[in-house]
Amino acid sequence: MKKNNIENQILVIFGSNGDLAKRKLLPAVFQLYVDNLLPERFVVLGAGSQEKDALAYRNDVRESLSTFAKRSLNENAAKLDDFLEKVYYKKVHNQTEEDFGQLKEYIDGLSERLEIKQNIVYYFSIPPFLYEVVAAHLVKFGLNLEDNGWKRIIVEKPFGYSYDTAIDLDKKLHTGFHEDQIYRIDHYLGKETVQNIMVTRFSNGFFEPIWNRKYIDRVEITASEKIGVGSRGGYYDTSGAMRDMIQNHLLQVLAVVAMEPPAVFDSDSIRNETVKVLQALRPIKGNEVKDFVVRGQYVSGQVGEEVQKGYRQETGVAPNSKTETFVALKMFIDNWRWGEVPFYVRTGKQLPERVTEVVIHLKPAPHQLFKQLCLTEPNNMIILRIHPDAGVAIDFGMKIPGAGFKVQNVNMAFHYSDLADKKIAEAYERLILDCMIGDSTLYARADAVKASWKFVDPILQAWQNNSEIPLYFYEAGTWGPNESNALFADKYVKWRQPFENFKTE
Ligand code: BG6
Repeated sequence: MKKNNIENQILVIFGSNGDLAKRKLLPAVFQLYVDNLLPERFVVLGAGSQEKDALAYRNDVRESLSTFAKRSLNENAAKLDDFLEKVYYKKVHNQTEEDFGQLKEYIDGLSERLEIKQNIVYYFSIPPFLYEVVAAHLVKFGLNLEDNGWKRIIVEKPFGYSYDTAIDLDKKLHTGFHEDQIYRIDHYLGKETVQNIMVTRFSNGFFEPIWNRKYIDRVEITASEKIGVGSRGGYYDTSGAMRDMIQNHLLQVLAVVAMEPPAVFDSDSIRNETVKVLQALRPIKGNEVKDFVVRGQYVSGQVGEEVQKGYRQETGVAPNSKTETFVALKMFIDNWRWGEVPFYVRTGKQLPERVTEVVIHLKPAPHQLFKQLCLTEPNNMIILRIHPDAGVAIDFGMKIPGAGFKVQNVNMAFHYSDLADKKIAEAYERLILDCMIGDSTLYARADAVKASWKFVDPILQAWQNNSEIPLYFYEAGTWGPNESNALFADKYVKWRQPFENFKTE
C-alpha cells in the first residue's frame, strides 16, 4: 500500500467499545501506523457510551491489540506506546443530542492543542438503526461542515434492511453529507484477492477473450463458513444469510467478475461498470423464488469430535426462527456478454470448510476426440480463490505419460503465499486508508446498493409472504441442503466441493 497525499486528520470511531472496533478497526489502524502509512499528526478518538477517560481507553485498546493485532505486539512494542499516545476517548451517548455538542467542543480542543486541522473520518461502528440518528446529530452541531477541513463518514453494513429502508437511509444521510462524503464499506471489496479478479481479467490478454457466454458455461460463487452465528444470534436472526452475505459481499464479487472493462482505472469508471451488472440482474419474481433460490437452516450435527448445536438453540435466536443460515441461488445477467449464462451463488454457516471462491466453468471442447480415454470428466475451470490459500488455478486435461492417449484433469495453481516478500493487507487496513486518502473506488456507491436491494427484495418478500416456500434443514458440518443441487439444469452437475487448498476433485 502507498502513502500518498494523506493529510493530518482525526478518526472518530462511534461504537469504539464494540466488537468490530476491537477485532477489526483498531488492529487495522494500528497496523497502518506500524507500516508508517498514517500521517504525521493523527488521532483516534473513541466515542462510546461508557464513562471513561483517555488513559482507561488506551488500556482497553492495548488489551484489544494484544488479542487481535495482526502480528505479535512484541514485534512492535516501541510503536505500540507511541500509537497509544494518539488515542483519545470521549463519552458519547449516540441518542443524546447534547453529547454531540460536547463532542464538538472536545474535537475543537484536541485540534487546537495538537494542531491538527479538522479533517475528520467518522466511523459508524454502531447498530444500523443509529446511522441516521448519529448523522443527524453531527449535522445539528455542524460537525459535517467542511469549512475547517473535510469530513467523511464510513457506514458499516447492513445499509438498510430492504430496498425502501435503504433508499430512506440514503436520503437521510444526504441531508447533511454529499455522496463524496459517504463511504459505504463492504469489506469484501477491500480483500486483496477480490481486487485481483480485476487485475487477472484486465491485465492479461488471454482471459478476457474467453470471458463471455461463448466460452463460459456457468459461474459458481461460494462463500462457505465453518462457524455458526456464535454470539451474534440477536443480530443474525433479524438478518439471515441473504441480507448478511448476498445483498452486499457476494453481489459485489459477482459484479467484479462480470463487469465490462473500464476505459480507465479510476473510482467512477470502475463503479460505473459494476453498477451496470447489478442493474442488469434478471429479477426473480415471487412465483419463481422456489425454483431459483434454496434456503436452509442448520440443525444440530456432529462436527469432528463435537456435536454442534442447531441454529434455533443459539443464544439470541427465536426457538421457532425461520431465518436462513444458507442460501443458494441461480441468477442471470441480462446483457450482451452474459446472456443465458447461469451464475450460481451460495453461502452458509456451519458448513465443512471456510472457503470463498469463484469458479468459472468453461464449455467443453466442441468435439471430444479423447472421450473414451478420459479418466475423469473433462472439466475446464478457472478458480479464483479468495480465501483461504488465495490464488488462481486452472484445471484442464493432460495426457497421462505412456502409451496411448489417456487423459486426466490436472490443476495448475498460483498461490498468493508464494509472493512471500509481500505482506497482504487486511481488508479493513486497505479500506480505512483509502477513506483517509479520499479514494472511494472500493466502497459501494448508492446506486449499487440500491440495485442490489432491488434484486434481493422480492426474494425476501416471497419468503416472508409465502409459507409454502420451504426452509430446508441441514446438519451442521454438511454442505447445506441437497436441494441446492437441484438448481442445476443438468442433474449430473453439482456444486463444486471446495477444498482447503484449491485442488479439484
Ligand atoms: C460479515 C458477516 O459481513 O462477513 C458475517 O456479517 C460473516 O456473518 C463475515 O461471517 C464473513 O467475512 P469473511 O471476511 O470472514 O469472509
